[in-house]
Amino acid sequence: MKFFAVLASLVAAAAAQRVEIFSPTTGQTLTQGQSVTVSVVEPNSQTTIEEIGIGIAIRHCDSDPCVDNGALGSVLYHGPYSPQFDSSTENMPNQNFTVTIPNVGSGTALLSVAHASFIGASGTFFTEVTNITVNIA
Ligand SMILES: *[C@@H]1O[C@H](CO)[C@@H](O)[C@H](O)[C@H]1NC(C)=O
Ligand SMILES: *[C@@H]1O[C@H](CO)[C@@H](O)[C@H](O)[C@H]1NC(C)=O
Repeated sequence: MKFFAVLASLVAAAAAQRVEIFSPTTGQTLTQGQSVTVSVVEPNSQTTIEEIGIGIAIRHCDSDPCVDNGALGSVLYHGPYSPQFDSSTENMPNQNFTVTIPNVGSGTALLSVAHASFIGASGTFFTEVTNITVNIA
């Protein structure tokens, strides 16, 4: 039982260090050549997190759902990530990035955020990629 309690708390800790794309939302239509604000949130955590940074990318998909082939597509942003507490995003710290949607082709697309950080006093290296499916007009 103790093992499972430890495992559960480790899983909870890892979940708390993950970022989410708060907006745009799944299925939202984005227009090529127009700018959109990507709000990246990181739920509050008890653990110390030293952010390395994030990358935001978008790519066209030939199928819906998109097939994971490891490719993230056109890079729209790469650099520092420094989320600030904000009540507008359900009290989760967020940072807004204004990016321009390139000519990726209309239809289904995958918007991804790649994220890297150091976690806790031991500085455990953490990386993840999160995504949402959007529609490109
Ligand atoms: C989207 O993210 C999920 C969760 O990380 C992952 O399992 C899935 O493979 C990703 N989808 C694509 C098309 O990359
Ligand atoms: C991000 O943008 C939203 C919508 O405009 C705004 O409510 C929020 O305050 C912004 N977040 C920060 C940290 O400025």
